[in-house]
Amino acid sequence: MDGNGRWAKLRGKERVYGHSEGVESVRACLEKAVELGIEYLSLYAFSEENWNRPQEEVDTLMGLMMQCIGQELDNFMKNNIRFVVLGNRTRLGDGLNEAIDRMMATTGSNTGTTLIVFLSYSGKWDILQAMKKAAATLALGQIQQMKTEDLDPYLVTAGVPDPDLLIRTSGELRISNYMLWQTAYTEFYFTDTLWPDFRKPQFVQALEAYASRDRRYGKVK
Ligand code: FPP
Repeated sequence: MDGNGRWAKLRGKERVYGHSEGVESVRACLEKAVELGIEYLSLYAFSEENWNRPQEEVDTLMGLMMQCIGQELDNFMKNNIRFVVLGNRTRLGDGLNEAIDRMMATTGSNTGTTLIVFLSYSGKWDILQAMKKAAATLALGQIQQMKTEDLDPYLVTAGVPDPDLLIRTSGELRISNYMLWQTAYTEFYFTDTLWPDFRKPQFVQALEAYASRDRRYGKVK
């Protein structure tokens, strides 16, 4: 969800103003995903590297998360949305972790769109924690027999299908340590639109672009 800071700066405002406006884009895209029956919508809201931002900005982003969780419960229940947070949650504050746990438990049986918020997440961290978990659970012989798909249950995304489409806003052309393992065959869509300007029409445009892709998974058709 890139470009919040630049969007605010272009308007002579503080970066945090862009993040607040970015929440409106989250609402719009989630509403569209529900309308279209999309099963999973994942948002890269805060990376492990984002902890290195100025403390004020980190606090604002965590505050926004907390505020959204507080405000959105009724909406999620009404729209049958399941809420999931994935990432290194040991770095989040107790208050936020408790609010996340409550929201995940309350929406856990909903069967519509699953909204996954990646918080304090990085792809390299995910692969490493999966390896550690596998090493702690499996015997050496089993590890030596492992196929690539055998690591999937140890990743934080266990049980979640690999993403079909990855959208990156604001003209950035890199993956920035997002789902490195899971995006092996994901289709990428890059747009110059800044995240706060990425609303329903822009989302639909990305989905239409995806619909015209020819996915071969390395095979010949
Ligand atoms: C990247 O833009 C954006 C973020 C690091 C934060 C995204 C968070 C939200 C939109 C709000 C909370 C999310 C949810 C799910 C309620 P940037 O700050 O890097 O902007 P720049 O590239 O212009 O500097």
